[in-house]
Amino acid sequence: MDRVEKIVLAFAAGLLGIFFLALLAAARLQGIDVPPCLPPEVRPFTEGRVDTLPNGTRQIFYVARMWRFEPEVVEVPAGQPLDIFLSAADVTHGFYLSWSNANLMAIPGAVNAYRVRLDKPGVYPIVCHEYCGTAHQNMVAYLVVK
Ligand code: CUA
Repeated sequence: MDRVEKIVLAFAAGLLGIFFLALLAAARLQGIDVPPCLPPEVRPFTEGRVDTLPNGTRQIFYVARMWRFEPEVVEVPAGQPLDIFLSAADVTHGFYLSWSNANLMAIPGAVNAYRVRLDKPGVYPIVCHEYCGTAHQNMVAYLVVK
């Protein structure tokens, strides 16, 4: 192998290492982590509800069905961790919590989850982003952060 080729390869490998470390550092600084496994007691559900844990964490169990989310309006305090659990009662739906990274699929017989913390008070619309039938565009719910 030519000497220049070796230098270019070593340079490229060094850059790859730097990019990888920068990625790890950015993920660490922004608190991005591998999603945790769901607790075994979380089974697929067909009724929406809101639970408050002793430490103040809200758990919202959303059910997506043609063509609404249940519960439709939930009020939560700002700055508290919020565990979102999502299931579907009929077909596959989407779930996007506006102005956040919460973007999930609602799948019948399965539960998807995401932890989010909303620091800014306001009304956050939740929309279905997976075509699920003739009234798909009407699927909206609201998370009210106070
Ligand atoms: Cu539910 Cu589109």
